[in-house]
Amino acid sequence: MKESGAQANAVDRHADAIGLAHAVSRYTVTLEGHGFAPCGDAERVLEALERAQGFGRLKGMNFRLPKGCRRGGCGVCRVRVLEGDYRQAPMSRSHISEADEAEGVVLCCSIYPLTDLLLRLESPKSLRAKNAQSTRF
Ligand code: FES
Repeated sequence: MKESGAQANAVDRHADAIGLAHAVSRYTVTLEGHGFAPCGDAERVLEALERAQGFGRLKGMNFRLPKGCRRGGCGVCRVRVLEGDYRQAPMSRSHISEADEAEGVVLCCSIYPLTDLLLRLESPKSLRAKNAQSTRF
């Protein structure tokens, strides 16, 4: 999806207002199938995606971004990093195992971009467990 110049200017003004103008680097975080968000290297990816959704940049999403604690504790903001590098803050091991991490599954409230990122939303562990139980015979 192409954004209009007016949309880009509005996002840039907002980014300046919240201090992103001083960020060393700015990357593009793309949410597969939904759109993208500019994200500073000192900004949590979830915050950038929320801002993009607020500006109507995440098209095709008929639901609000999953979010809860915003600090890596509740596990609702699971994503799979398909491309790109990031640094991460602590995440709850009850929601992100070492195996998850090795596959690039992380909590987007606890990662910061080091390059452009391509992400895919993942179901929270609790929801996957609930769905698995409901399909057992
Ligand atoms: S919002 Fe709770 S872990 Fe991300």
